[in-house]
Amino acid sequence: MDKIIVEGGRRLQGEVRISGAKNAALPILVSSLLSDGVNVYHNVPDLMDIHSTAMLLSHLGARVSTEAQTVQIDTGGPIQPEAPYDLVRKMRASILVLGPLVTRLGKARVSLPGGCAIGARPINLHLKGLAAMGASIELKHGYVEASASCLKGAEIYFDIVTVTGTENLMMAAVLAQGTTILRNAAREPEIVALADTLMRMGADIRGAGTAVITINGVCALKPVATTIVPDRIEAGTFMVAATLTGGDVTLMDCEPEHLGALVDKLRQVGAEINLSEHTMHITRRAEIASVDVKTQPYPGFPTDMQAQFMVLMSIAGGTSMITETIFENRFIHVSELRRMGADIQVSGNSAIVRGVPRLSAAPVMATDLRASASLILAGLVAEGVTRINRVYHLDRGYEAIEKKFAALGAAIQRTG
Ligand code: EPU
Repeated sequence: MDKIIVEGGRRLQGEVRISGAKNAALPILVSSLLSDGVNVYHNVPDLMDIHSTAMLLSHLGARVSTEAQTVQIDTGGPIQPEAPYDLVRKMRASILVLGPLVTRLGKARVSLPGGCAIGARPINLHLKGLAAMGASIELKHGYVEASASCLKGAEIYFDIVTVTGTENLMMAAVLAQGTTILRNAAREPEIVALADTLMRMGADIRGAGTAVITINGVCALKPVATTIVPDRIEAGTFMVAATLTGGDVTLMDCEPEHLGALVDKLRQVGAEINLSEHTMHITRRAEIASVDVKTQPYPGFPTDMQAQFMVLMSIAGGTSMITETIFENRFIHVSELRRMGADIQVSGNSAIVRGVPRLSAAPVMATDLRASASLILAGLVAEGVTRINRVYHLDRGYEAIEKKFAALGAAIQRTG
């Protein structure tokens, strides 16, 4: 199995291009199911989760072809309603096919995704919303079976802000009869990107990016050609890496507007950040200062940046408290960072991080994508050679991560 090997101590310097966003691409590729014809998506990142989505869509009957960063999905042929366990278990976001299948075909049978390393991650709010729109829903043999001769618009309140829940119901509502209002909806840039795509397909959606989204159902959507927005979490990971190593890094093709909470925290930590329309320049001359962080739904500090930020705090000049409010088990990286010499105590959903002068390299592994990324960051500043196992987690969500770090001067390589 592949490993990533990092020798610590290099200052990152140079330019890095940010890829298309995984979490925007996944629902947008799935939204092709709502049309009847050839959709074209540009700037799609080359990731395992994208390949899993392509396999799932092919299984459902779409014809998917990929050339470089462009993915073409033809949904003109017959589409079938079943997403089997073997495909869904590879990627939780597969549940996103539920809304589109029910609204287009009147029925769907989708495997329940199950828990994962960072938490139980139920889908009750996806199901509650579909039921409110008139779908009859049964859970049988590990599958969600949903059917509705015609979904009807409804007013839906989310008890908890859910990103894929909002996306699923937004996709169900675009072809429903009447008006759907989603309240306490997620406001992530990925929601806005999906809504933009759906509107270009002919959907009538207002308020995406706010907590109240109103969707007036239409009879049919047409295929679309669109470009995936830049990945704010990949960008954030390189911003933390630049700050961590006292580097001098320019991020190209990114969207600074999507990174407000992180930019603010990194400036408090001591980073100097210059923003222009689609680029960001990051340096640090001051010592790393400790700051407290609490994860929140967008526009708050992203849970997907918590592990990476913890590495920064682990070599900061004081003590910080990092509080995780989104997932119940997202401190998987803590025990590995402690093995590298970090001083971190976890109490409930908070971690107290006391900065140490230096981390020391160790063989490590993690069972979650962002936790794995944090171990690369730790390796960049640790004394010695860090070996990161289970690289497939990284391949799910970071495009050519070791090549991008190497181009910035990191001593990093992948081995078999
Ligand atoms: N939740 C429920 N019931 C539901 C849905 C969610 O209780 O029906 C809870 C979850 O258990 C969690 C909270 O609500 O405690 C928020 O979860 P959410 O549904 O927003 O997460 P998600 O949609 O499954 C997406 C991203 C995650 C990211 C989270 C939070 C995609 C494909 N995934 O997950 O990305 O961490 O939103 O921002 O968009 C990653 O990229 O590494 C990743 C995990």
